[in-house]
Amino acid sequence: MPNQDILDLQPTHIQELQNRYDQALTEHGYDSLLIASGAAPYRYRDDQTYVFQGFGPFLHWTGLAGQEHSWLLIRPGHKPVLWLYQPVDFWHANPAMPEEPWQEVVEVRSRQQPGAPELDNPGRLAVIGDPLVLDGVPGEHNPAALVAAVEETRVRKTPYEIECLAHANRIALAGHNAARDAFLAGDSEFGINLAYQQATGQREAEAPYHSIIGLNEHAGTLHYQYYDVQPPRRPRSLLIDAGVRYRGYCSDITRTTAGPGESRFAALVHGLEKLQLRLCEMVAPGVDYVDIHRKAHQGIAALLSASGLVSGLSDEAIVEQGISRAFFPHGIGHFLGIQVHDVAGKLTPPPEDAPFLRLTRTLEEGMVVTIEPGLYFIPSLLEPVLNGPQAKYLNRSLLDELQGCGGIRIEDNVAVTASGTRNLTREWV
Ligand code: GLY
Ligand code: MN
Ligand code: MN
Repeated sequence: MPNQDILDLQPTHIQELQNRYDQALTEHGYDSLLIASGAAPYRYRDDQTYVFQGFGPFLHWTGLAGQEHSWLLIRPGHKPVLWLYQPVDFWHANPAMPEEPWQEVVEVRSRQQPGAPELDNPGRLAVIGDPLVLDGVPGEHNPAALVAAVEETRVRKTPYEIECLAHANRIALAGHNAARDAFLAGDSEFGINLAYQQATGQREAEAPYHSIIGLNEHAGTLHYQYYDVQPPRRPRSLLIDAGVRYRGYCSDITRTTAGPGESRFAALVHGLEKLQLRLCEMVAPGVDYVDIHRKAHQGIAALLSASGLVSGLSDEAIVEQGISRAFFPHGIGHFLGIQVHDVAGKLTPPPEDAPFLRLTRTLEEGMVVTIEPGLYFIPSLLEPVLNGPQAKYLNRSLLDELQGCGGIRIEDNVAVTASGTRNLTREWV
């Protein structure tokens, strides 16, 4: 959807936010809510700060991810007030404030001081935000029940939010295509990162998370965080997990590419992608997300059998005996929104067979989730199996061969619609 069409949806989004917040505040007995955008803390004994990304509820209203020391006041039945920190400063520039429709329904006041504004007659006041910026601010700080209610307002995305997420996918996919081309041209992890940033037009500090770019065995570290400047002698695989922010909203996409001549690995990538697409299609209202996670394990077991990595066991036994978990140790995904791992996914704790699952809810229209199965060759997880009674089921020489490819993850961003699913990532291919 073009930019202007997305913006046209914004007033309805803000109206819906106002309704949801009014309801949350009334239910919890508060007259006003002050939201702190936050500020990057200084590093210990240093005059440099950590990289800043704003507090979720502040972004939910404004989309301004880089706006420090600003405050937003919400009161049921009143126009919200935003105090925007805009100091006269010859060291730093103030962030640009693109004109957007939300500013017509929010009173914007410019401010020179970083601290919280003084409020006239706030009544019973809650203040939410990073505790580091709340010292000395009057009101109840981060009351748990209200914070949970505010987080719940982010669970079912408005049409505006879904289009922002779709747009964030579109931009990131241009980066993924450039990254794949750079890999196939023989670039290093560092070079691939440059290609990604060039194509997305977004510096890494603004992205929702540091891009994970792993060649060869690095692809087997789930959140691999370094970039080799030299390409490997034999580029066997690329795993890139990278997104962008668009008006505060995140994409979170992973693609895996086999290097030239890696036909066995390429076949596994193809098999995992087919499984991933089937899992995406399971997304629909009323579906328990934990069931999608369990289906992923069954599919991975089938892939392990079909590829000959595991033999002599039924697919069910591969799952029951924990072998699929040695290859796929993380959860099938999470909520996505203005945080990459968006809030309120675990109203109940994850089940014992899925300890890292970040989302345990039944899906509802408007939720946006990731679907990201993986199949990795991680020495610290495979060695206990190879040194135990189940070793006889594993094909050690095939594992040895594939170990140097690291692993596979394929991740899309999927919205739950009234009748099923909308894959926000595959719309742009
Ligand atoms: N990019 C982190 C994740 O996929 O959850
Ligand atoms: Mn990811
Ligand atoms: Mn993810």
